Amino acid sequence: MAEPILVTGAAGFIGFHTVLRLLQAGAHVVGVDNLNDYYDVSLKQARLRELDNFKDFTFIKEDIANFEGMEKLWKEHGPFKQVIHLAAQAGVRYSLKNPHTYVQSNLVGHLNILELCRHTEGFEHLVFASSSSVYGKNKKLPYAVEDRVDQPVSLYAATKRSGELMSHSYSHLYGIPQTSLRFFTVYGPWGRPDMSPYIFTDAIIKDKKVPIFNNGDMKRDFTYIDDIVSGVLAVLETPPKRENDEGIPYRILNIGNNKAENLMDYVGAIEKALGKKADIELLPMQAGDVKETYADIDETTKLTGYKPTTSIDEGIPKYVAWFKDFYGEE
Ligand SMILES: NC(=O)c1ccc[n+]([C@@H]2O[C@H](COP(=O)([O-])OP(=O)(O)OC[C@H]3O[C@@H](n4cnc5c(N)ncnc54)[C@H](O)[C@@H]3O)[C@@H](O)[C@H]2O)c1
Repeated sequence: MAEPILVTGAAGFIGFHTVLRLLQAGAHVVGVDNLNDYYDVSLKQARLRELDNFKDFTFIKEDIANFEGMEKLWKEHGPFKQVIHLAAQAGVRYSLKNPHTYVQSNLVGHLNILELCRHTEGFEHLVFASSSSVYGKNKKLPYAVEDRVDQPVSLYAATKRSGELMSHSYSHLYGIPQTSLRFFTVYGPWGRPDMSPYIFTDAIIKDKKVPIFNNGDMKRDFTYIDDIVSGVLAVLETPPKRENDEGIPYRILNIGNNKAENLMDYVGAIEKALGKKADIELLPMQAGDVKETYADIDETTKLTGYKPTTSIDEGIPKYVAWFKDFYGEE
């Protein structure tokens, strides 16, 4: 059997799709997730039920912040030479209410993964999910990996940037090949209920007010899940190399759609897919949010061939169709 690939956060939105694609390609996957209740656990369980159809999938419920548990998992089901590390406390707004969980999952958990990779002979590649939120208060667009990123506007962003820096130090010290991928607003079927596609779709269906922050003056580089997964897997197969004794096998890449969409156009695409108008409530900017995100993906495309192909006009109807089916809405 092929060597197992570890995917952390396997019951999560991106983790689920990543595992599914790997299994469809014939890989042997071990998934770990603590199934926390940040959002509806039954959605995480439903994703896992889909994955359970594959015999080459093993799921372990564990907290990545628990080092002993992770060490045991590594011994019993590994060692893992390829790791896709997606488990994290996500969400910008929640980090204002629950800061400690971000430090546990995103810093302590991240260190645990680094330590386990460090002690794995012949380790090949750790791909880590960072975020466009690290660009924080930056004004220059599109956001490029060469830009300074020392002005985070949320603790979530600060933990993601810290994860990138911790990774850099481990690649430097121990030669672990690593890529930190800065994801830009991912959407699609099986998406998270704390994100705008769910909130908007749900509100329109149920005739509730649709909250639009910063009076709608926002732009997002919305990226369709299938494009993200293609990018993650292409990156996994192209680990950075240590060019010479000085070289550090570490890189940071953006992974977005390379197109900043107006928030109102996005709402329009959902209205069109539902055949129903939104009752919009314009609200001020929220703490921790940024006004615009837009990814420069040239380097990612050059290194891995990554090329997103799904526009919101194509992706949103797929999301809405899944939503209606999953939640039983007409
Ligand atoms: N979805 C996006 O738009 C987006 C954008 C930027 C970055 N990211 C990053 O991508 C990754 C995946 O995001 P997602 O949208 O799939 O989120 P998600 O919340 O659906 O998935 C994360 C999964 O990790 C699990 N998890 C959290 N803490 C854990 C811990 N301590 N131990 C074990 N499991 C734990 C959760 O239960 C969840 O199932 C995250 O690191 C997130 O920060 C996502």
